[in-house]
Amino acid sequence: MSAFHSVVHRAKQKRYSFLMKQTILSGSTVTGNLTLGNYIGAIQNWKKMQNDYDCLYFLADLHALTVSQDPKVLRERTYSFFAQYLALGLDPQKNIIFAQSHIHQHTELSWVLTCLTPLGFLNRMTQFKEKAEKNEKNVNAGLYTYPILMASDILLYQADLVPVGEDQRQHLELCRDLVGFFNNRYGAGILKMPQAFVSKMGARIMSLQDPTKKMSKSDENEKNFVSIIDDEKKIEKKIKAAATDSGTEIKYDVDNKAGVSNLLTIYSTLSERPIADLEKEYEGKMYGHLKVDLAEVVIQTLRPVKAKHDELMRDRAYLDKLLNAGAERAQARAQKTIASVYEAVGLLPRQLF
Ligand code: TRP
Repeated sequence: MSAFHSVVHRAKQKRYSFLMKQTILSGSTVTGNLTLGNYIGAIQNWKKMQNDYDCLYFLADLHALTVSQDPKVLRERTYSFFAQYLALGLDPQKNIIFAQSHIHQHTELSWVLTCLTPLGFLNRMTQFKEKAEKNEKNVNAGLYTYPILMASDILLYQADLVPVGEDQRQHLELCRDLVGFFNNRYGAGILKMPQAFVSKMGARIMSLQDPTKKMSKSDENEKNFVSIIDDEKKIEKKIKAAATDSGTEIKYDVDNKAGVSNLLTIYSTLSERPIADLEKEYEGKMYGHLKVDLAEVVIQTLRPVKAKHDELMRDRAYLDKLLNAGAERAQARAQKTIASVYEAVGLLPRQLF
């Protein structure tokens, strides 16, 4: 054992291993429904990472306010997303799971960063332009500064890695720019430069009706996604109605057969069988066969998840307790960062007498 390795070994024995693990942070905006796409593309990976990384996952409820929310629905959905995280197998001991609004430091850091962000940087955010177009009646300033709050989420916890989809890449770039500005002006190393975490695992799941678009949790057309807590009848209906392609062959070919390829991807990931195996099994069979079987696979996968979710939702006190425990752990870290940021920019520390 080299000197380095023996140090590592001893640290592990002493349960200080979190000191060496890289920090991963991700979150979901509490809007729409968590989908099979979120599960396969993201949460399934989070589960695999929980032993090897120091992981923080949060419910981005403040980000949800950028579109108009019914307060009751927002509250329910926040509980439900949290219950879905747990039901999907995210361990609240191994990971720090919390609600963004429970940690006031997010908005505090956000303000400091807002004052460092050139308008031009926000003007070029493609997601803002898209959302503003879709949401003509409510183009609020929060929608505009959304990426700054997102940068604060990441930087507050000194995250090394941020698993993001294509659609969030530009936001992460902005975050990296802000770290550059901040550290340049106030001192290197105050904020850690995060990186996009591109997982080798985790397929991109596409919309059921338009398989050239990503399955999105905020899609207005319910037929485009399977929600993790959809009832079984609904799942079956949605899968059976999925758009397939002209032709009859069941073959993985994204360019010419986007629909069938998407169904094969879902099937393969959930059943842990290679796509080639499935192609063989369905040789000479019809799309309908594939859909019937796939619906069954999805239903079987999600049945225990939904059951667990429903059970958790009946015990709000338990969910509150776990959220509070997550917030306590998150806050300790957030406070360290905000204190050094406030000090660096010249805000007077309050003296307690
Ligand atoms: N904007 C992300 C989404 O809608 C959610 C999010 C908010 C996030 N803050 C984040 C993701 C920080 C990663 C890191 O998907």
